[in-house]
Amino acid sequence: MKIFLDTAIVDEIRAAHAWGVVDGVTTNPSLIAQSGRRFEDVVKEICAIVDGPVSAEVISVDAAGMVAEARPLAAIHKNVVIKVPMTAEGLKAAHALKKEGIRTNVTLIFSPAQALLAAKAGAAFVSPFVGRLDDVGHVGMELVEQIRAIFDNYAFACEIITASVRSPLHVIDAAMAGADIATVPYKVLEQCLKHPLTDIGMERFLKDWEKAKK
Ligand code: E4P
Repeated sequence: MKIFLDTAIVDEIRAAHAWGVVDGVTTNPSLIAQSGRRFEDVVKEICAIVDGPVSAEVISVDAAGMVAEARPLAAIHKNVVIKVPMTAEGLKAAHALKKEGIRTNVTLIFSPAQALLAAKAGAAFVSPFVGRLDDVGHVGMELVEQIRAIFDNYAFACEIITASVRSPLHVIDAAMAGADIATVPYKVLEQCLKHPLTDIGMERFLKDWEKAKK
C-alpha cells in the first residue's frame, strides 16, 4: 500500500519524506488554510520534495469553474492531481479534465455508489472518508472494502485513497482491505512509527553495551 501524507505543512512533509515512506501528498482547503501560506506556493514546494501525486483541491462549485481552476494548478507540476468534490458538477469536471490529460481525485466519497460513478467518470483516484463515517456511527472501513470489491470486479484502474485517517488502526485496516493508498496525517504516521517496547528495547541494549564496555 502506498502512503500519502495528508498535510500542507511543508516541514512535516520534509521530515516524513526523509524516512523514505511518502509516496504522495494530499491537501484540502482546510489544510491549506492551516498552513497560512499561498496555495500555489505550497503546492510548488511540495512537488519539489515528493516525487508522487500531489492533490490540490479546487473550490468552485460548478464544473466550468473547477476546470478553469484546475488548469493553472496542473501546470505547476506533472504530479499535481486535481481534487474535485463528489457532486454532479465534480463528476462533470473529472470527465472533462481526463480528456485534457489532467488526473483527478474525487473527494468526499461516502458510499460505494459514489465511488463507482467517480471511477466511471474517469477519476484517477477516489477518496473515501473513513474517519468521518466512524464519527457518525458507521464503520468507515467497510466502505473501502466495498469499493475494493467493485473496482476489482470490473478492473477499474481508479486507485482507492483511504482518507480521513485518524489512527494507526485505520492504516492497518486500510492495508488489510486492499486500499491502494492511505493518506495519513503526520501525527498518525508518527504514531505508526513508535512502539513503547521498541523504546524500552533500545534503552536496554544501550545500557548493556555501556556495562560491557566497563
Ligand atoms: C484527504 O484527502 C482528506 O482531505 C482528509 O483525509 C480529510 O480528513 P479529516 O476528515 O480528518 O478532515
